[in-house]
Amino acid sequence: MSEREPIGVVGAGWVGLVTAACFAELGHRVVVREILPEKVESLRRGEVPIHEPGLGEMIDRNRGRLSFTTEMSELLDGPRLLFICVQTPPTYSGDADLSAVQRAVEGIGEPDGKAVVMKSTVPVGTGRAIHRDAPELAYVSCPEFLKEGTAVKDFLEPDRVVIGADNGDGWAAEAVAAVYEPLGAPIVRTDLSSAEMIKLASNAYLATKISFINEIANVCDEVGADVTEVARGMGLDPRIGSRFLNAGLGFGGSCFPKDAQALKILAGNSGYHFQLLSAVIEVNELQKRRVMSKLSKHFDSLVGKRVALLGLAFKPDTDDMREASSLVLASRLEGEGATVVAFDPVAEARAAELLPKVEMAGSALGALDGADAAVLVTEWPEFAALDWSEVAKRMAFPLLVDGRNFLDPKAVRAAGITYEAIGRPSAVDRSAVS
Ligand code: UGA
Repeated sequence: MSEREPIGVVGAGWVGLVTAACFAELGHRVVVREILPEKVESLRRGEVPIHEPGLGEMIDRNRGRLSFTTEMSELLDGPRLLFICVQTPPTYSGDADLSAVQRAVEGIGEPDGKAVVMKSTVPVGTGRAIHRDAPELAYVSCPEFLKEGTAVKDFLEPDRVVIGADNGDGWAAEAVAAVYEPLGAPIVRTDLSSAEMIKLASNAYLATKISFINEIANVCDEVGADVTEVARGMGLDPRIGSRFLNAGLGFGGSCFPKDAQALKILAGNSGYHFQLLSAVIEVNELQKRRVMSKLSKHFDSLVGKRVALLGLAFKPDTDDMREASSLVLASRLEGEGATVVAFDPVAEARAAELLPKVEMAGSALGALDGADAAVLVTEWPEFAALDWSEVAKRMAFPLLVDGRNFLDPKAVRAAGITYEAIGRPSAVDRSAVS
């Protein structure tokens, strides 16, 4: 087999590490440049700083092809393709903060025959602006569509690979297409700005789908329908599709909230008022608080009540707490005078820094001990396997709000627990339906 294209990666965050490990797995030599010396040291020692299934093992397996450095010069000493995987968090104005991207590109300079391959999510127009400032550096937009928790699989089995480049950078686009070619996915070759827009529009669309089903759930609560049944019936229409129709406590994470906001602001800065996205964002903010009214139905006041949160991470299989619904919910509960106790299989340490007043229980049953109410916030599979009779015994008042419509209402109810969900007012007993 011919020697595979060496790859450079700037940034050893979540996207950078997954990208680097997967390219190494595909047989490429990969140099990762990370600005934080302590992170480089720990990666060299074999420690992986994030919880992503399969990633640690993959890094271990490919040690011989992966190297980590703080020096940009080491990165430039070989690979032609330099994948930029740095963070682009929102600024106070809602625009994306591009300072890490700018530092990375400035650090690279304009060496001959090199291309920047932008993985970081950036506003449409960023590629062309960087190209104007550094015309000798080829520029390719190749947005990432990885999901936390399944990122390794998503990388190796993509639905599509999007590659955007303007005239003159055809060689670089070809080279990027060649490194993805073994994955056998459809490759969308397009211009730079369209590639950037595909990323933002994809995330904004998925966020819209979630806010839509959450609003349907809220109406279901009023009119006596079950949103899980509604989603099942809707999803069979291939024009709609069944995925991302799970109603719940809203979307969180490092991507949807930021990218929906970034696209709205980008449109606004360009003179267009993107009304739909404003609603998507607002619905999501309100959805995180939706549980409060469900609890209030059962208590005159939450003052002094002990409320257990099952799950804290923004979704299962990650310890990521960014924009997690649990943050808003815990703060609202504390605001109403409740004591909040929580359990998450992997996110407790991260969550404790953000929620100093919340008691971390270390186990689900520990959190439920003596609780006046419990809220399932993150659908970790182990919560579905809880012994509900034991839960009922442990709780002071057996009330459970299933914030992700994840549990079997019948099993929970059979143990004598009052079950509430999102958009399932009667949490339908299916035997009564069929
Ligand atoms: C998302 C996209 O799915 C990826 O394609 C994209 O690459 C990534 O953002 C990114 O831009 O980096 P991620 O944030 O990891 O991935 O998580 P998702 O699985 O998409 O879930 C996002 C949020 O939506 C979670 O809080 C989840 O609980 C919520 N969600 C998802 C729902 O409330 N309902 C659903 O039906 C699906």
